[in-house]
Amino acid sequence: MKEVFSNPSMETIISLAKRRGFVFPGSEIYGGLAGTYDYGPLGVMLKNNLKTLWWRMFVESRDDMYGVDAAILMNPKIWEASGHVSGFSDPLIVCVKCKYHFRIDQVNTKPKKDKENNVVKSDEVWICEHCGTKNDMSEPRQFNMMFKTYAGASDDAVGVYLRPETAGGIFMNYKNIIDSMHPKFPFGIAQIGKAFRNEIAPRDFIFRLRELEQMEVEFFIKSDEWKQMFEQWRVLMHEYARAIGIQDSALHELEVLPEDRAHYSERTIDFEFDYPFGRKELWGLAYRTDFDLSAHEKGSGVELKYFDEVTKEKFIPHVIEPSLGVDRTVLAVLLCAYHKDELGEDGRVYLAFPPTIAPIKAMVSPLLKNKPELVEKAREVYVALKKDIPQVMWDDNGNIGKRYRRQDEIGTPFCITIDFDTLGEKPELKDTVTLRDRDTGSQERIPIKELSERIQAVL
Ligand code: GAP
Repeated sequence: MKEVFSNPSMETIISLAKRRGFVFPGSEIYGGLAGTYDYGPLGVMLKNNLKTLWWRMFVESRDDMYGVDAAILMNPKIWEASGHVSGFSDPLIVCVKCKYHFRIDQVNTKPKKDKENNVVKSDEVWICEHCGTKNDMSEPRQFNMMFKTYAGASDDAVGVYLRPETAGGIFMNYKNIIDSMHPKFPFGIAQIGKAFRNEIAPRDFIFRLRELEQMEVEFFIKSDEWKQMFEQWRVLMHEYARAIGIQDSALHELEVLPEDRAHYSERTIDFEFDYPFGRKELWGLAYRTDFDLSAHEKGSGVELKYFDEVTKEKFIPHVIEPSLGVDRTVLAVLLCAYHKDELGEDGRVYLAFPPTIAPIKAMVSPLLKNKPELVEKAREVYVALKKDIPQVMWDDNGNIGKRYRRQDEIGTPFCITIDFDTLGEKPELKDTVTLRDRDTGSQERIPIKELSERIQAVL
C-alpha cells in the first residue's frame, strides 16, 4: 500500500486534535486564554498512557527510584534559594507602535545593507512580526516568568509562586525520602505534575504553554560519577522515545553552550525534535551539580548532607536531571504517528501509535446495528473484553467502513467485528470474529476466546 503523505502541518494536527477529542483550546467560548489548552477524552487517555509508561521505565522498573507528588504552592523562600526569583527570566522587548511583547529571540531581524547589498553595519533591522514596524522596539528588560499569587486572607496574605518546575518539590522531599525510606546511594526521586511559566509569547499549540506538565527525575550521585550517570539517563531517554513511537531520525541531541545553560547547570543536552515549525527542544538532560541542595541547606539552615553508612562519608549529593515535558511529548507523538495512505476508495488518515500508548486498544462492533442477534453477541464480547482491557470501545454508528476510518484516525490498533458467521451461519466459524489490523487494514478470523490474550500480547 502506497503511503502518500506523513509529514503533517501544524494546522492538520491541531484540527485533528480538536475534531477527535484530543486537545481543545482553553476557555474557548470566552475567546480563549493564551498559552492554555484542555485535553479531551482521547487526549487524557493518551497523556495517561505516556505518563504511565514513563513512570514504569523511569521509576517502577528500578529499585533506586522513589516517587513523590508535592504541593504546587510552596514556601517562596524555596524559589529565592534556587535562584528562580533573581534568575528565572527571559529578555522582553516591546514594539513601541503596537505594544506587542516579544522574547528577544523571537523578533525577526535582518542585517542592514547598502545599495550594493553589502552589510554596512553590524547592527540589524528589527521588524515587529505583529504590525511590521521596523526598528521601533523598547530596550530589552528581564521579565521574571514565575506566576505570583497570594495565600491567606487579604490582610495577612503571603505572596507565593506557582512552581515553575516540578524539581522544586523533589528537592523539598529529599530529606523526607532519606528519613522515611532510607535509600541506599545513589538514588533518585521522580515526580509528574503541573508547572507554570508566564511565557512572554506562548505559541505553537501545546509547544510553549503557560500551564504545562513535566515528568522529572532528580538523581542524587557522588560528584565523581556524574559523567557515567549522565550517560545512563541519556540512554534511557532514547529508549523511552523509541517506546512511544518517536523515530531516532526525528530526535537530535544538542550540546547546550555554557552561556545558554540554566543558572544551575554545568552540562545540558537538549533533545530536539523536528516540529513543522523547526527543530526545537523536546526534553532536557542536565547536570545540576550540588547547586540546589547546597542552596537549600544554606537557605533553610537544615543540613541536607547524605551520610553513607557503608563508606562513613557525609556529603551533599550532586544531581543528574532528566526533564521531560508531557505536552511537548504529546505533540511529538501525534506528529510521528500521523500517516496517510491509499487504503480504501478515498484513502485514509491513521495514527500509528505504538499499542502501549494508543488511547483505545480495540473497538468492538456488530456488523449491522439493526440486527438484534448481532448486537447482543457483540455486547457480550465487548463486556467480557472490557473486563480484561478497560480501554476497549463500543461503536455501532454508521456503516462498518466509516467505523474503521474513525478508529484509524484516533489510532486504535484493533477493530473486532461480530458478523453472522460468529453466530454460526457457517458452523465451522461459530464463535469466531474478524480482527482488523490498523496499519495494514488486513483482517483475520480468530476465536473469541483468543481475543484478550492476542491484544494484551502487544500492550
Ligand atoms: N527542571 C528543569 C526544567 O524545568 P526546562 O528545560 O526549563 O528544565 C524542561 O524544562 C522541559 O519542560 C522542556 O524540555 C519541555 O519539555 C518542557 N517545557 C518547558 N517549558 C515549557 C513550556 N512553556 N510549554 C511546554 N513545555 C515546556
